Amino acid sequence: MNRAIFAQPELTLSKDDFLFFKEEIKKRSGINLSQLKTNLVQSRLRSRVVQLGLSSFQEYRQCLQRMQANDHEWQLFINQLTTNKTEWFREEMHFHFLVNHFLPRWEKSGKAHLNVWCGASSTGEEPYSLGMVLQQYFQAKPLSFSILATDIDTTVLQFGSNGIYPKVDLEKIPSPYHSYLDRGTADIIDWLRINHKVKNKITFEKFNLTSEEYPWTGQFDLIFLRNVLIYFDEHMVRHVSEQCFKAAAPEAALFIAHSESLQNLKTSWSFREPSVYKKGKALHW
Ligand SMILES: C[S@@+](CC[C@H](N)C(=O)[O-])C[C@H]1O[C@@H](n2cnc3c(N)ncnc32)[C@H](O)[C@@H]1O
Repeated sequence: MNRAIFAQPELTLSKDDFLFFKEEIKKRSGINLSQLKTNLVQSRLRSRVVQLGLSSFQEYRQCLQRMQANDHEWQLFINQLTTNKTEWFREEMHFHFLVNHFLPRWEKSGKAHLNVWCGASSTGEEPYSLGMVLQQYFQAKPLSFSILATDIDTTVLQFGSNGIYPKVDLEKIPSPYHSYLDRGTADIIDWLRINHKVKNKITFEKFNLTSEEYPWTGQFDLIFLRNVLIYFDEHMVRHVSEQCFKAAAPEAALFIAHSESLQNLKTSWSFREPSVYKKGKALHW
């Protein structure tokens, strides 16, 4: 019989503790939790409180308050509170748009290398989906691409950079791309590995979108920033979109999710169609 289960304390999050966690996650990641998210915070932080051997959220709060700003515990706190839901080929129409509109025009720009940034890459399904589409489009052409995949959450970055996924995911990946997956055998029969043709083109790195000044200027031809703006307040969405604009190359495309919009924010991006924006006014693609 496991006595630890019986010894586990009943943990309830007080309003004050919730407000502390809510403020800290907003300050550190821009994630703007509504007052209704008490249960979410309680369930996400409970495991950390138990792991640390603490007996209440208040003790965890006091523990965080004693930490230096750069203490690793703050990273673990952020990792617990991010929502990492993602899917292979999510919002598939974006991939069709790329192949049918954006890439044919980009090819005419005379550039030989497509520089892509996936700014909230989660566990990697999004940058690898992109990588498969681009690898297939560019094969047999004298063109190359690279993808920078970033996220604030170090756990998902580690998972993504491993490039290993359960075999059941095959059903979610269109068959023309199965050649970019190595199937496991023997002990690893239930797993798939992203093959080097795609994996070698993708680099995973930590980057916080709330950073004051992004380290890139005029660099990315294509930016995927999907299902992350939804967690930010309007001020932060504007900041992120303007920094992305600075990071983008002339004629670059920005893809956000269909549930997100920059329409009412008067940003520098030009609207192309719902969830697709362009740097520059002329509608070349
Ligand atoms: C819901 S997932 C979206 C994943 C993927 N883009 C998609 O559409 O499937 C949101 C991701 O944004 C990341 N995120 C949240 N705040 C962030 C920030 N300030 N900087 C970078 N990434 C952040 C989370 O860690 C999470 O992995």
